[in-house]
Amino acid sequence: MKLVGDYLRSAGYTAEFLLTHFSLPRLHHLFYPLGRQGERFAQLYRGPGTPLFLARVFIGGYSESKDAFLAHMPEAVFDALRENGLLEQAGTDWRAPGLLFPYDGLFINADRAFRGQERMLPDRNYVAGGADPTSVAFYEGIAATPCRTLLEVGTGSGVGALLASRYAEQVWAVDINPRSITYARRNCALNGAHRVTVMESDLYSALGDLRFERILANLPFVPSTESTAVFAAGGDDGERILAGFLEGVVERLEPGGRVYALVMGADREDDPFEARIRRYLGAGGEECDVALFSSKTMTPMEFAFDQILLKNSDSAALYRWIGFFEQFHVQQMVLGNLIVQRRREERPVFTVRRTLSSNASIADMDQLADWETRCLSRDFVPSVLASKPRTSGHWEALSKHQLRDGQMTTISYSILASHPFVETIECAPWVVSMASKANGELTTSQLLGMVQQQTGQPGEALLGVFAQLVGTGILEI
Ligand SMILES: C[S@@+](CC[C@H](N)C(=O)[O-])C[C@H]1O[C@@H](n2cnc3c(N)ncnc32)[C@H](O)[C@@H]1O
Repeated sequence: MKLVGDYLRSAGYTAEFLLTHFSLPRLHHLFYPLGRQGERFAQLYRGPGTPLFLARVFIGGYSESKDAFLAHMPEAVFDALRENGLLEQAGTDWRAPGLLFPYDGLFINADRAFRGQERMLPDRNYVAGGADPTSVAFYEGIAATPCRTLLEVGTGSGVGALLASRYAEQVWAVDINPRSITYARRNCALNGAHRVTVMESDLYSALGDLRFERILANLPFVPSTESTAVFAAGGDDGERILAGFLEGVVERLEPGGRVYALVMGADREDDPFEARIRRYLGAGGEECDVALFSSKTMTPMEFAFDQILLKNSDSAALYRWIGFFEQFHVQQMVLGNLIVQRRREERPVFTVRRTLSSNASIADMDQLADWETRCLSRDFVPSVLASKPRTSGHWEALSKHQLRDGQMTTISYSILASHPFVETIECAPWVVSMASKANGELTTSQLLGMVQQQTGQPGEALLGVFAQLVGTGILEI
């Protein structure tokens, strides 16, 4: 299979080529040739050159004669494609049963939803390619820094595990769907990834007593009234698989280890998503921190229409969605990144939630988790008093005035933080003064001393507000 991967690479079958040729911002559009866009793709698939031939066969799904294949590749590559199930006979011609596409320096084989412009009936065990926007948001929400042991739960075609094998010494990838296992193993072989162990497993069931420094997951979250596909269906409330994953995760994590997951769930009446995340962790949650970063919130109706359009469903689906929202008292749906951290030593744990700005990155999320951890560490006060904070500049203040004794007087401020987190903090005027005076030269101790002189606020309260300003990205230290 390495032969095939090497050939595809040397043939110039790259994402850049495809994005340019088809004038697309993201590759996954090519996997769903719908309507006018599909007609345009069909025309653009015609043309000379090996990269386009490969796209025509492996993404478009068009059949070609053996002679046509041999005009573009050595016979040994054609044989390897055939023997490994990447090509199948269709009459006298040959065609690709699945997709085979370049992604971030990898080659990925997965199920196809279309052959030409014809939609194929998805199997219940359909294995998605792993290049759609939700999967990409998942990969982008993972710390790509060196680690020893890493597990991906629900690996699908294996992209997350393959990307992780670039920085993790040993990678395990599990999935409940046996067809995923076939694809993930094939993709490891195609990409010469030797450090990835792929196993069929219902969550952790096949993992014995292995523990990991990092655990990744992008698990199904669509309520199963609307989807029964294994890659999408998340049980009656959409959160069942996430709940099972979280319940078992603590004993799988090394102390100090982190989970990076892409999650979708509901803010319910008096029960925000992060509160349930903590409950799903069960007793083990006493050792775990939770940081939820919301990237998109949708009203129940926005979410329902999105799902209905995606599936081309009818109005009956809308009534099922309304029933679902009522049953679970859903106020809004939240899509976001989740970090769960198992504490390294005995200390209180934290639960935080932030809204991500459009260009926030995993470094920002990790940094917040680091900061909240530091706030609860034993040497927090001395270490932070000696630091030299700087205002980030990604915020503005709005003031509220009131007529008092014939004079307009500022009575409160709202600080609007815009990056990396979008937050509004209602506060007293001195908080704005604290945020604006941090210039990278004054120590925190000097800064808090100045504010204390002006306001007479107790030191502990000042330190609490200071921690909040750092935790929302208003101050940097
Ligand atoms: C939304 S897909 C994500 C696939 C891939 N990781 C990605 O990000 O594109 C969810 C995956 O979880 C798998 N899955 C569902 N239930 C599972 C379970 N109980 N244990 C392990 N994997 C499961 C599905 O088969 C599917 O491959």
